[in-house]
Amino acid sequence: MRYITTPIYYASGSPHLGHAYTTLIADCYKRFYELLGEEVLLLTGTDEHGQKIERTAADMGIPVAEFIAEKSADFRQLWRDLDIRYDLFSRTVDPHHEKVVRQFWQRLEANGDIYPGEYKGLYCVDCEQYFTSGDSCPIHRKPLEEFTEESYFFRLGNYQNHLIEHIEAHPDFIIPEERRNEVLSFLKSQKLNDLSVSRTSTDWGVPVPGNPDHVMYVWVDALVTYLSGLGELSAETIEKWRHSHHFIGKDILIFHAVYWPALLMSAGLPVPRRLFVNGWLTIEGRKISKSDPSTIVDPAKLATFVGVDGLRYYLCQGIRTGQDLDFSHSRMISTLNSDLANNIGNLFSRVITLIDKQYAGRIEIKKPAYDDDALRLLAHRDRQRDLLRESMVRANLAKASRCVIEFASEINRYLQKVEPWRIDDDEVRRDCLKLVHHCLSDLTIFAAPFLPDLVSQAREGLCLEKAVSWDDLGNWSDCISVRPIKPIYKRLNMVDL
Ligand code: MSP
Repeated sequence: MRYITTPIYYASGSPHLGHAYTTLIADCYKRFYELLGEEVLLLTGTDEHGQKIERTAADMGIPVAEFIAEKSADFRQLWRDLDIRYDLFSRTVDPHHEKVVRQFWQRLEANGDIYPGEYKGLYCVDCEQYFTSGDSCPIHRKPLEEFTEESYFFRLGNYQNHLIEHIEAHPDFIIPEERRNEVLSFLKSQKLNDLSVSRTSTDWGVPVPGNPDHVMYVWVDALVTYLSGLGELSAETIEKWRHSHHFIGKDILIFHAVYWPALLMSAGLPVPRRLFVNGWLTIEGRKISKSDPSTIVDPAKLATFVGVDGLRYYLCQGIRTGQDLDFSHSRMISTLNSDLANNIGNLFSRVITLIDKQYAGRIEIKKPAYDDDALRLLAHRDRQRDLLRESMVRANLAKASRCVIEFASEINRYLQKVEPWRIDDDEVRRDCLKLVHHCLSDLTIFAAPFLPDLVSQAREGLCLEKAVSWDDLGNWSDCISVRPIKPIYKRLNMVDL
């Protein structure tokens, strides 16, 4: 069992390419473990409480409930357009969720970790976060607002040592390593202040049990969706929760690596198994963000041009673990033309055409004889298979997707060297084409999480079953067939964009 989550995105604007980035990555990771036959659940959703949303709706003159319903639906529509196979979609305004958040709060309270006080500080409404110093928010570059309000506090300070111990004892809790080190130095370099966990300056949130003048801090509310998405706080929910893997951007690292585990420890619940922290998608070095309109790229529109698989593949292959990825249309087009159109796409067309023309689409097999070139190709396949699987454990999708391309390139090299179309001996030529067909069958299995649509077209051309499973690697049938198909990925031109 593997429980995968994306962040719960703010329903304050339309989804952009930055949101699509984390979601596509999580979906790709999910598809890989499904391919292995694991039971996997993917949760995504929308974060709909808090001052930021309340203010945005008010500025637009739209009743807040109407505003969030529309924005939340925009996210769901985008996930449909991008073929995201989520299982659970949580909205923080769901009555079920609100009930679980109240129960969660009561657990913190019962543990003696909640107390009333007054908060005075500098607040960024866009981050929904207090800052201790500075005039403007380092992320949104907007002036910080001075707030004084009555607030309940969570005894975060009590968990400082537990957090350090947990992170040190679990080297794979935060991936990649740089982010783990960042959290450890944050925890070791200062004494943690208690966390303000309620607001009186807004009523757009979940009322605090026993004091409805306060609503819960929007981050506590949002983090608990990871639990509430699974159901009531029952033994069954907690069992699933033990297998949680969060995909997040680096902007929300402290919330997930410090506040969230501390809250869970206080509530007597297990901390998440893994945090996969990605860098930002930027445009000319600037983070893609609603507050910087010139960076906005519409993912659905882009996908109609490069294909859903094109977009998915480009984002996956571009992640340099933990680092930012600078997006440009021209770089995307050149990568897709070279990897998908020229390499993989041509390979399938070429082999399918060859078998179709020379053997009317079907070759019966006796046990094939493999020469040195064939054995080298198979050894290469084995290395890429192991590397792909190993890379996925750390959600290193760039490295994993590279294995797909490397294997396709190796099959192309084999064809170039052996030139089956020039082999006179019919038996030898059959063996060679059979081997290539088998390798293409394995290539579709490698590629399934990254290129699901291309894979289903290619498998149709190879007359293979639609369902793909990792266990079918090397599990080749005695008779191979092909049927002519359209090119699976056409070359793109910048002018069409
Ligand atoms: N609502 C909070 C998250 C609560 S989770 C319990 C929030 N929402 S957000 O809409 O701002 O989305 C944050 C996440 O979206 C980031 O952490 C990241 O995963 C993704 N991204 C948003 N913009 C992004 C980029 N420009 N690049 C990469 N990821 C981006 O914070």
